[in-house]
Amino acid sequence: MRRPILAANWKMNKTVAEAEAFVRAFLPLVADASGVEVVIAPPFTALQALGRELSGSHVALAAQDVSAEDPGAFTGEVAAGMLSELGCRYGIVGHSERRARHGESDELVAAKAAALLNHGIRPIVCVGETLEHREAERTFAVVGSQIQESLAKIPRERAGDLVVAYEPIWAIGTGRTATPEMAQEVHAMIRERLRDQFGAAGEEIRIQYGGSVKPDNAAALMAQRDVDGALVGGASLDPQSFSRIVRFDEAGGGRP
Ligand code: PGA
Repeated sequence: MRRPILAANWKMNKTVAEAEAFVRAFLPLVADASGVEVVIAPPFTALQALGRELSGSHVALAAQDVSAEDPGAFTGEVAAGMLSELGCRYGIVGHSERRARHGESDELVAAKAAALLNHGIRPIVCVGETLEHREAERTFAVVGSQIQESLAKIPRERAGDLVVAYEPIWAIGTGRTATPEMAQEVHAMIRERLRDQFGAAGEEIRIQYGGSVKPDNAAALMAQRDVDGALVGGASLDPQSFSRIVRFDEAGGGRP
């Protein structure tokens, strides 16, 4: 049984004060949400403050990115060891905004995921196709190859620490969500690849869906067999809205 994992990706939003105010409003709203794992990824600047706010709670702290390098002369970068010191338990790597805007390759994403694991941080590895890929019926080819290349450095015995996020790029921030069936189709393909690569451990790896997840579509997405969580951007910025996504189960729909 895979434990659902709902993660907030705040991207470049919220000052430290705003991040703290969010957490103070949010924690009481999800106090009794057991059986799911909740993760918040604020900007780097708010990690330390949120690490303090979240300590002792059941909400885990995550970074939105990490350097693949060990500490050294890398201006503007942040090393995995620095993130674990702040209490990060998860780290997002390979988000499409970084792949597209910063030219991050699968190889770099693989190195970042490995750097996180080396410091005891669980990677959330993002994959997803563009609208162009989908229209050319290349979704499986593109996502399948991202999976293979981006996870190339994850040892089999660490597979249980891995989270994969499938985020169709055409659905991110557009209000256009994949239907639950479209999501499941790709998640099932990803599951098959994970089984090929990691054997039985591939069954345990959680696969999140991301791309315009909202309180009113979360339950239907989560009801799909291979949808084990959500990576939420826009709708995670408001405590009420994200708490309703965390409590998707109460909206009906349930898990198979
Ligand atoms: P969105 O972003 O929920 O705003 O579409 C999701 C993501 O990019 O992780």
